[in-house]
Amino acid sequence: MSAVPEIDSDALKLFSFQLFTKLEGAVTAGMVHLGDQLGLYSVLAAADGPLTTHELAERAGLHERWVREWAHNQAAAKFITIADGGRFGITPEAAAVMATPDHPAYGMGMFHRLPQTMRALDDVRDSFRTGIGHDYDSHGPQGAVGIERSFEPWSNANLLPVVLPAIDGLVERLQAGAAVADIGCGAGSAVILMAAAFPQSYFRGYDISQYALARAALKLEESGLHNADFHDPRHEPLPTDQSLDFITTFDCIHDMTRPTEMMKAIRRAIKPDGMWLLVDIKALDTFEENARKNPMAPLMYGISVLSCMSSALSEEGGEGLGTLGFSESTARAMTAEAGFTRFDKLPVDHSVNAFYLVRP
Ligand SMILES: C[S@@+](CC[C@H](N)C(=O)[O-])C[C@H]1O[C@@H](n2cnc3c(N)ncnc32)[C@H](O)[C@@H]1O
Repeated sequence: MSAVPEIDSDALKLFSFQLFTKLEGAVTAGMVHLGDQLGLYSVLAAADGPLTTHELAERAGLHERWVREWAHNQAAAKFITIADGGRFGITPEAAAVMATPDHPAYGMGMFHRLPQTMRALDDVRDSFRTGIGHDYDSHGPQGAVGIERSFEPWSNANLLPVVLPAIDGLVERLQAGAAVADIGCGAGSAVILMAAAFPQSYFRGYDISQYALARAALKLEESGLHNADFHDPRHEPLPTDQSLDFITTFDCIHDMTRPTEMMKAIRRAIKPDGMWLLVDIKALDTFEENARKNPMAPLMYGISVLSCMSSALSEEGGEGLGTLGFSESTARAMTAEAGFTRFDKLPVDHSVNAFYLVRP
């Protein structure tokens, strides 16, 4: 008989505290989702000063008792402030992250898709048994909106003034007229931004998510632009005649079932002097390094199970890279294998992503 291990009561308390802190985080994240969806942060940010829960509820068109309980959760979590007399407010920093969609630090996109992401728990339980995951459309239309809201703020603020000028000669080439593809384009934000800035160039977005493609088509129509379109690469593949000047992949190679095949398709599509802007998660080579150096590692491995790796395993034979599975050295090796000879890291500062210029 094996001996019953002795339990240290202090270590037991500490462990339980650490575990339930995560549950507190999950539930509070749900309250952040509600605050965003119900417009509560926007009301707080637009107010002249702190509000009572009656004022907050009235301005948001909600019931006070519900708003009061929500505000207590948020103030206990220190996301909103509470002043003497029970008035709730929001700091300028919290307002930037929670109530200012055009601020580069705006962060409500990931909370937008929290219910869809957590609903994936039901789907992936089976995936652990079958090995087969679920693509982005399994998160429904709001999943695509959440992705759009997650990536657009930083991109709107940085793509044109910071990222594209970091590539020598690119802006001039786009101004003169270039053929461009954005693969894994999601709701088309980057395509529309670039198409508006470079009217001489033509931009084609590719994605396999029907919800994302529908949003992209709608946004394109609203923009009135005529130098862009969107396609599903399973029906309309990339060109194979080395005709593209510039290709972008933002946060999507690690989500693909067949990234190796995609890189070979990019190699066939790109001109001999073409440029591929490869943007992906700043992953490190081993679990140990990610766990030690990335404070977001638990979040990222979890999102991988629920979203990224699940997508990357969503068909038989999927390579399954996942959120932290595409480190710089993996990217270098895979792009070289696909026939690219030049790989440079670009000097673009981002909290989560690395930016690489890959060339034939
Ligand atoms: C994390 S999202 C990024 C979307 C977009 N690039 C952005 O920055 O908002 C990943 C996208 O890759 C798409 N995707 C996955 N596999 C793909 C494939 N084989 N071809 C094209 N798109 C793919 C997904 O449908 C999803 O829209």
